[in-house]
Amino acid sequence: MEIVIKDTYEEMSREAAHEVASLLNMKPNAVLGMATGSTPLAVYRELVRMHREESLDFSQVTTFNLDEYVGLPPNHPQSYHYFMHENFFKHVNIARQNIYIPSGNTRNYRAFCEWYEDRIREAGGIDLQILGIGSDGHIAFNEPTSSLSSRTRLKTLARQTIEDNSRFFANADEVPVYAITMGVGTILDARHLVMVANGLHKAKAIAAAVEGPVTHMITASALQLHPSARVYLDNEAASQLQMREYYDWIAHKRPSAPAY
Ligand code: F6R
Repeated sequence: MEIVIKDTYEEMSREAAHEVASLLNMKPNAVLGMATGSTPLAVYRELVRMHREESLDFSQVTTFNLDEYVGLPPNHPQSYHYFMHENFFKHVNIARQNIYIPSGNTRNYRAFCEWYEDRIREAGGIDLQILGIGSDGHIAFNEPTSSLSSRTRLKTLARQTIEDNSRFFANADEVPVYAITMGVGTILDARHLVMVANGLHKAKAIAAAVEGPVTHMITASALQLHPSARVYLDNEAASQLQMREYYDWIAHKRPSAPAY
């Protein structure tokens, strides 16, 4: 796992966006895994800027989103369908038929989840998966005790997550209790993982995920099992890392590192 610490949220988001852009420059038909929530907003803003100002091309890109609330129609302002459309898809030249987001409104959730996994496989797997982290250490909606080999499925949200996400709703009672989410195993199958986290409220979860033991109590700790994972942090999210000095030392020494 590589830890990249920047002074500000904007700076860390720009770096993460540039990583996505370099993949697209090398592989214009890349398959991207998308996350929602507050954290990746600046990554999407930077990608949109690069699309407008530097002709970053999404015409051959396929995307798969991590999760969706159960029970919200796609046009609900708090649905992840709506979020992705408003904050990203409508601003770039992605083909609508290449966008996949779990359905929060289907009659057969189990069949849908299998279908979603099949679509990911059929697309050749996810090249780069963007991830945020919950204050309880979740990735996607893989709440504590989720199996580290889980696949796309229906999950019951933890009370902590409902409380955290109630800031987007009128009150906590309006937050859906269930979600469709990619599993930890689905996420680990992606060829490269890019996690973004900012703010003091993420510091504890980040320290546990990055430096604690691999455990299903902090599903983000599964990133330690992945051969190619990079975690972008601002100073606040990095504030509880014990090995901070080492991460800074690595960054300082990078320019003189041998080609590898
Ligand atoms: C959203 C998702 C979640 C969020 C996490 C952090 O697609 O997968 O795991 O990344 O809940 O949310 P924010 O960024 O709002 O703090």
